[in-house]
Amino acid sequence: MINDDKNLIESAIKARERSYCPYSGFSVGAALLSSSGKVYTGCNIENSAFSPTICAERVAFFKAVEEGERDFVKIAVVGGKKGEPVKEETSPCGVCRQVMAEFCKGDFQILTFDGEDIRRYSLSDLLPASFGLKK
Ligand code: THU
Repeated sequence: MINDDKNLIESAIKARERSYCPYSGFSVGAALLSSSGKVYTGCNIENSAFSPTICAERVAFFKAVEEGERDFVKIAVVGGKKGEPVKEETSPCGVCRQVMAEFCKGDFQILTFDGEDIRRYSLSDLLPASFGLKK
């Protein structure tokens, strides 16, 4: 289990390398594990008009949903200054938490990494009393 989590973090770190973040200089990677056992990765993709920018987590979710996935176990999220190793925890933004709530129950796990340790949260920890959350 712990080893699985390390692998998921590693996948997120690899996805982070593909981040397109010329405006913020902050690169994020995500790796989403579905109940079918497949891992879907994502990176943040920014835009000069700013608002079309999409976070790594939503790229991973939307890729998976488009491929027919509807059940998810956990997501790993890593971020930091582009070109530098992960040093601090990156926690999903509110919009991404709401997207998670669309497809996941409260026990869905969110793994973060500060360069040394993995932290584990449930979706209900990060988005309590949410609108539309499946209990
Ligand atoms: N970002 C993510 O991809 N995920 C998060 O959880 C937090 C923020 C991105 C959006 C933007 O491209 C950059 O990080 C700086 O906010």
